[in-house]
Amino acid sequence: MTIHIGAKPGQIAETVLMPGDPYRAKWAAETFLDGAELVNEVRGMLGFTGTWKGHRVTIQGSGMGMPSLSIYANELIRDYGAQTLIRIGSCGAMQDKVKIRDVILAMSATSISTPSLGFFKEVNFAPTADFGLLKAAYEAAEARGVTTHTGGIYSADVFYAERPDLDETMERHGILAVEMEAAELYTLAARYGRRALAVLTVSDHLKTHEALPSEDREKSFGEMVEIALEAAFA
Ligand code: ADE
Repeated sequence: MTIHIGAKPGQIAETVLMPGDPYRAKWAAETFLDGAELVNEVRGMLGFTGTWKGHRVTIQGSGMGMPSLSIYANELIRDYGAQTLIRIGSCGAMQDKVKIRDVILAMSATSISTPSLGFFKEVNFAPTADFGLLKAAYEAAEARGVTTHTGGIYSADVFYAERPDLDETMERHGILAVEMEAAELYTLAARYGRRALAVLTVSDHLKTHEALPSEDREKSFGEMVEIALEAAFA
């Protein structure tokens, strides 16, 4: 057990999928895993372990934002030995060519600040996905016929941002979408020599102000889970 995860030693798999929402973790575990067992419910941040096509997988909620994800990813890596960590979540599109429901594979994750900022000081570290996972996820998404964009995203530390100029700067630099967790996940994976990727579904568009209808969220989320699982065990 750690401060924030109640799982016993051995109850966390080497491959961990991390949705922000703990109820999405529950839904994904019940929908895609065989024999899913609840392994964590500390603070309601649900985690489940089961198997997918015979491979052990944990699906653990990360909470929203990099400070929250950092707690769970640190403990999963350092205390439970997680080797492959894949964020599955939603994002807001920043480019005209990116549409609602499209899948984004985050090759890199720019940010203004992450919990690791104090650690890097004057260095601008470039948080980057694991290439093997990225390639496998791209192939899995293509095989399913899902419209996929692979490139840079922006991990914001606030959802209700007061800096429209920043969104514009990100857009001008080709950033595909904004979310709130990937940069710190990639940084921690780099620090500890683990594999990480963020597979995201576009839930809203910053330019058109469209949003994914709630009845479509489950289907889009399911596609993302399957892409992540296929990539993890490719
Ligand atoms: N996640 C989903 N949509 C988002 C947005 N517009 N900003 C930040 N994170 C998000």
